Amino acid sequence: AFFQVEAPILAGLKVVITAGPTREAIDPVRYISNHSSGKMGYALAAAAQQLGAEVCLLSGPVNLSTPVGVKKIDTITAQAMHQAALAKAEDCDIFIACAAVADYRVAEIAEHKIKKTDDCDEMQLRLVKNPDVVASVAALPNKPFTVGFAAETQDLNHYAKQKMARKNLDMIAANDVSKPEQGFNSEQNALKVFWPDGEQQLDLADKSALAKQLLALIAKQYAAQ
Ligand code: CTP
Ligand code: CA
Repeated sequence: AFFQVEAPILAGLKVVITAGPTREAIDPVRYISNHSSGKMGYALAAAAQQLGAEVCLLSGPVNLSTPVGVKKIDTITAQAMHQAALAKAEDCDIFIACAAVADYRVAEIAEHKIKKTDDCDEMQLRLVKNPDVVASVAALPNKPFTVGFAAETQDLNHYAKQKMARKNLDMIAANDVSKPEQGFNSEQNALKVFWPDGEQQLDLADKSALAKQLLALIAKQYAAQ
């Protein structure tokens, strides 16, 4: 018999993926974070590895096991994820930003646990803006093919396209987090994917199935550019 074996679609490519939430300390015992589970980013890492890529996962604090064959770097804060991303992005072909990075961090982290006092019924935390990880990667002179996510509760198409343009992304995958069956902590997700001259709806599916579909779109656009 005569047959030909096709190379997997990401064979020989280096892929960096950010996943999970970040955690911004208030004092030694408290922090600001969000509901990201990391499942979508980890599913993308596992699928990319299976599709032949060399995968590096930059992960915030999550309760997930690292997919077999994937290199994982743990990062807690947005600033740590930013540093790790810049160090890795120079030497990768595709960068996928799936992490729910805290937009702001506490301006001054208290050295000791903040005490509750009788004379204080109200308190204010001053926050400062964090660096934008994916925008920094997309601003590199030798930028990889850069894919962002957009979590929206309204005007999904408009905000997603605006984010893609503003951050100089090659593709953006938008999900409607106002729907409880998709996004943040669920097993399933649905995505509307945009690139500068096209779009594609990926219907509600398990995150691992969805990851494969998204990577197929990424591989196609990466090859086309
Ligand atoms: N992102 C990032 N670094 C940040 C904030 C966001 O890398 N400091 C990335 C996310 O990983 C995602 C994309 O930017 O790929 C969009 O994140 P999102 O929170 O939807 O957008 P923002 O630009 O932060 O705008 P907003 O939260 O106001 O909608
Ligand atoms: Ca944000």
